[in-house]
Amino acid sequence: MASVLIVSAAQHTYSPTMTKTRLTFLGSLAFAAAQQVGNYQNETHPKLQWSKCAADGGYQQISGELVMDANLRWLHKVDDWRSCFADGQWDYKVCNSVENCTANCAIEGAEYSYVYGVKSGNDSVSQQLVTKFDFSQNVGSRIFVSASKDKYQMFTLLNNELAFDVDLSTVECGINAALHFVAMDEDGGMSRYPGNKAGAEYGTGYCDSSCPRSLKFVAGKANTEMWFPSETDPVAGAGLLGACCSEFAVWNSNAHSFSMSSHICPRDDYQVCYGKDCDAWWIEPGERYNARCDFWGCGYNPYRLGATDFYGKGKKVDTSRKFTVVTQFGNTNVTQFFIQNGTRIDMPDPTLEGLPEHNGLTPEICAKSSALFNEPDRFGLNGGWQKHLKMLSRPMVLSMSISDDHYYHNLWLDSTYPIDQTDHPVPGTVRGDCLMDDNDPQVVENMYPNAKVVWSNIRFGPIGSTVKV
Ligand SMILES: *[C@@H]1O[C@H](CO)[C@@H](O)[C@H](O)[C@H]1NC(C)=O
Ligand SMILES: *[C@@H]1O[C@H](CO)[C@@H](O)[C@H](O)[C@H]1NC(C)=O
Ligand SMILES: *[C@@H]1O[C@H](CO)[C@@H](O)[C@H](O)[C@H]1NC(C)=O
Ligand SMILES: *[C@@H]1O[C@H](CO)[C@@H](O)[C@H](O)[C@H]1NC(C)=O
Ligand SMILES: *[C@@H]1O[C@H](CO)[C@@H](O)[C@H](O)[C@H]1NC(C)=O
Repeated sequence: MASVLIVSAAQHTYSPTMTKTRLTFLGSLAFAAAQQVGNYQNETHPKLQWSKCAADGGYQQISGELVMDANLRWLHKVDDWRSCFADGQWDYKVCNSVENCTANCAIEGAEYSYVYGVKSGNDSVSQQLVTKFDFSQNVGSRIFVSASKDKYQMFTLLNNELAFDVDLSTVECGINAALHFVAMDEDGGMSRYPGNKAGAEYGTGYCDSSCPRSLKFVAGKANTEMWFPSETDPVAGAGLLGACCSEFAVWNSNAHSFSMSSHICPRDDYQVCYGKDCDAWWIEPGERYNARCDFWGCGYNPYRLGATDFYGKGKKVDTSRKFTVVTQFGNTNVTQFFIQNGTRIDMPDPTLEGLPEHNGLTPEICAKSSALFNEPDRFGLNGGWQKHLKMLSRPMVLSMSISDDHYYHNLWLDSTYPIDQTDHPVPGTVRGDCLMDDNDPQVVENMYPNAKVVWSNIRFGPIGSTVKV
């Protein structure tokens, strides 16, 4: 499945002593409607070193940067402390039209550690689930890897390999620590959408295969039309516009389960969708083929495929300790293996009857698992392996996130889903050992506010170049 909709936004509480005097030229506002940048908090990207590996065994240390997704940033009236968006809703006095809202609201620089719980070391970064600050709190974060101040780092996956270390020891049931590649624009959509004056420097232009409508800006415009606040998430909502693009989910995970999945779209790059058209997963069975993108994806979760003793605390890949995830993007398959305590641990083959006797993503796994699980083969119907290879041949942006899930309670990752199968689970419904009730975001945020994923030692290069085992 695609990344969970990250919709939590920090609710800033600034002290009144921070007000400043500045001249405003209101006259100029009438000229251009634009997604603005505020100037109360300078944007300083945390640094992240990663390695670009070569086929001959050499490597280059890259000084990269991290940038917070624009959607999590404080949005306020230009040169004014008044929020344009708070508690899941727009301030319709400022946002009385799409144009006025776009022109008169600005996103701010991010206080990465203090507000969002994102802390970078030299070659590592951690993301905490709940961060309390002042009289407020932030839940979850999404960050992207950048090459420079205003350009994302682009990765082309085909025939390459990615390795990273991950510590999930505190990431419990109901939480998803995710590392994905999404087909965002390198500049965050700034050149494609002239309304966007913030760009990749401020983490704009997010899109994924769920075609999220929870984004406050889509295509450089405020998403105020038909906006309704979420019934379950106090800081989120959804508008008319959504942003679709292809996505390869290398890693959705916690200490109990993980999955890797490929999510193709009719077009790989950033596409705007409207209303119901975006919500592929709300369409009834049988109509699902109208999906904008393959939201559920062709995935590999060994627990779901029968290998229940492979991954978890004290299991073969022991999630109470750090380990390395290596993913190889080949022409005929995408495979994954692990390294822990210096030992290579291979991905188990599926054990359920009716599935191929090999592991990793292949066209065969996608077709046979959807047949066995009695699901439409959306991956095949959307263009299948050829389309998947096309996606892997284009540059994509690396996104890392931690979140809980107000929509599906993460059940698709680590518990039983669909939920009407809980009493008599059929093949494919059990994805992990988490109990449904424990996955409620309220429970999760109370029980594990300090849950924290640590990503480190990211390496990328041709297949066979990133690790020696
Ligand atoms: C932002 O940076 C500029 C230049 O370095 C500095 O003059 C200004 O005080 C900073 N603003 C804030 C709010 O820190
Ligand atoms: C947008 O702002 C302009 C300038 O303040 C104002 O004249 C206009 O009425 C606003 N639009 C709407 C729909 O309120
Ligand atoms: C980061 O690198 C610097 C310089 O090499 C070193 O002094 C420091 O200890 C490192 N920090 C961490 C957290 O590894
Ligand atoms: C997976 O790809 C590798 C080459 O990258 C190949 O050696 C292997 O046979 C493939 N396995 C399957 C099941 O296609
Ligand atoms: C890691 O490996 C070392 C030596 O290979 C061994 O002594 C140690 O017990 C291992 N640790 C764990 C937690 O498996």
